[in-house]
Amino acid sequence: MSNRTPIIAANWKMHKTVGEARAFLDSFLPGCDTSGKEVVIAPPFTALAETEAMLRGLDRVHVAAQNMHHEEKGAFTGEISPLMLLDIGVNWVIIGHSERRHIFGESHGFISRKMAAAVRHGLTPILCVGETLEEREAGHTFDVLREQLATAFEPIGEEGAATVVIAYEPVWAIGTGKTASAGQANEAHRFIREWLSNRFNNTIADTKRILYGGSVKPANISKLMAESEIDGVLVGGASLDAASFLEIVNYG
Ligand code: 13P
Repeated sequence: MSNRTPIIAANWKMHKTVGEARAFLDSFLPGCDTSGKEVVIAPPFTALAETEAMLRGLDRVHVAAQNMHHEEKGAFTGEISPLMLLDIGVNWVIIGHSERRHIFGESHGFISRKMAAAVRHGLTPILCVGETLEEREAGHTFDVLREQLATAFEPIGEEGAATVVIAYEPVWAIGTGKTASAGQANEAHRFIREWLSNRFNNTIADTKRILYGGSVKPANISKLMAESEIDGVLVGGASLDAASFLEIVNYG
């Protein structure tokens, strides 16, 4: 456990209708203990406005988009712009999730432009980084992280960098039931912090919240949160059920 305020974030991916999002929040919010932490919920685009309305006025519970385009408007069929998110009161956005990188082919350059746009518009980005199993087994984990970090932060100055939240999500641990060991997560988080210190400074590195993502569940949350380098979690599957996500949020 560090002295950085932890963030417990839910990424619902392509799950939940508006009605299902509402039902989740109706049972989740009354039991959600936000003392000393922040909670983020990232529903699909169609449930963003309803989720935002239900969370409005809650100090430490935020709504996030799962993705956005970097342009303000234009001929980009199927895309959502930063201005559209701000228009409905959404101030947080996940950028560079591994499913965007690997399934939808998002390039480093695209992610870099999204990061620049998020910072320019005052959105808080949750930047996802992480290696595949093949890359880990080939001993390339740090090279992959270095490249992902370098490109994502390339257009961002110190002031913008201070607002970014990072999620280390090893691709081999996502949706597989395989959690990175505390040692593996700590090692990657420490590498990221050192990179931030070299690229920016010690203050950015020391205050940066680095979340772990990949098969986080009620059964492993306490162990993960006990690690000094882990400042929170980004939860997929286990965030879909209100009782399960409550156990994760109210860990410890
Ligand atoms: P799971 O928790 O389902 O492994 O997903 C992790 C993730 O991708 C969160 O963004």
